[in-house]
Amino acid sequence: MNRVNTYLEAHDLQSRDIRDVIDEFCDEISKMEGTCIDIGCGPGTITKEVFMPKLPKETLVVGSDISKKMLDHAKEEYKDEKRLSFSELDIQTKKIPSNLVGAFDNAVSFYCLHWCQDIRQVFGNIHQLLRPGGKSLVLFLASNTGFDTYLSLSENPLYKPYMQDVHKYIPYFQHSNNPRMTLKKIIEESGLQVLHCSCREKTFIFNSLSTLEKHAQAVNPFTPRMPAEIRKKFETDQSNDMVRRKISFVSGDDESENNVKVLDRYHVLVAYFEKPSAPNQEKDSTSKQKKNGLIS
Ligand SMILES: C[S@@+](CC[C@H](N)C(=O)[O-])C[C@H]1O[C@@H](n2cnc3c(N)ncnc32)[C@H](O)[C@@H]1O
Repeated sequence: MNRVNTYLEAHDLQSRDIRDVIDEFCDEISKMEGTCIDIGCGPGTITKEVFMPKLPKETLVVGSDISKKMLDHAKEEYKDEKRLSFSELDIQTKKIPSNLVGAFDNAVSFYCLHWCQDIRQVFGNIHQLLRPGGKSLVLFLASNTGFDTYLSLSENPLYKPYMQDVHKYIPYFQHSNNPRMTLKKIIEESGLQVLHCSCREKTFIFNSLSTLEKHAQAVNPFTPRMPAEIRKKFETDQSNDMVRRKISFVSGDDESENNVKVLDRYHVLVAYFEKPSAPNQEKDSTSKQKKNGLIS
């Protein structure tokens, strides 16, 4: 995900949900002392403007992301912020760089982990990043019908060549029967102690079709690969298919297309957990990880 400005112009849904969770967990965040990594910080706006004001004043924050473009933007934008630095990190990596192992008292991640297929590796890695006793808060998409649009359009011969890896972009929990239980089990099997884990139904109203389209385009991984004429057609087909799967309505008497609004219904996962600090707890979790092949 590299389109910094497009994302900044069309991230109202993500921003609203992240603000809600940060407000809800503000007591826990206010105790996140020492160091904190923000995994998938993107352009850094939420990290700096929404998350950091809730932290203790001395806490040092490292914003991390897989996208160099996002990080370049964040570094430039926040170069004068003494408590905030940035570092490139793929949270699905098979090997966390040694300088980051056990380096963090806290880890947060907002609207990033649904980009990751290897969710066990992700939580194994968060376990590695945290020092014993470290805490973590994550929020990410469980499912959204927009991803079924990807699956459907990937069958179209016109788009197929550009969407060979479509499954890489379908969230791990998109078709899961019990996302909450599955996530809780994965976190526990990564050696972490779950303090909260929930799957929540959310709604968001896009005030116009074009707002929905911008939102969808900002996070679409396929269109940058398409030649302009195919991209244009794809964007129209994507919009039509998405609207079909959501709830469109007009408010008031004006039934013109300009007045159509779209209600999006989707699910997010929220988890708050801890890396055990007591030696016997740590031993228990290590043997669990061994059993599950997370460590050898
Ligand atoms: C929707 S943006 C959210 C950004 C930010 N947390 C915010 O709230 O505005 C998702 C971010 O996750 C990053 N991302 C995707 N896969 C990742 C991975 N495997 N490791 C780290 N970051 C990743 C993307 O580059 C993108 O910047």
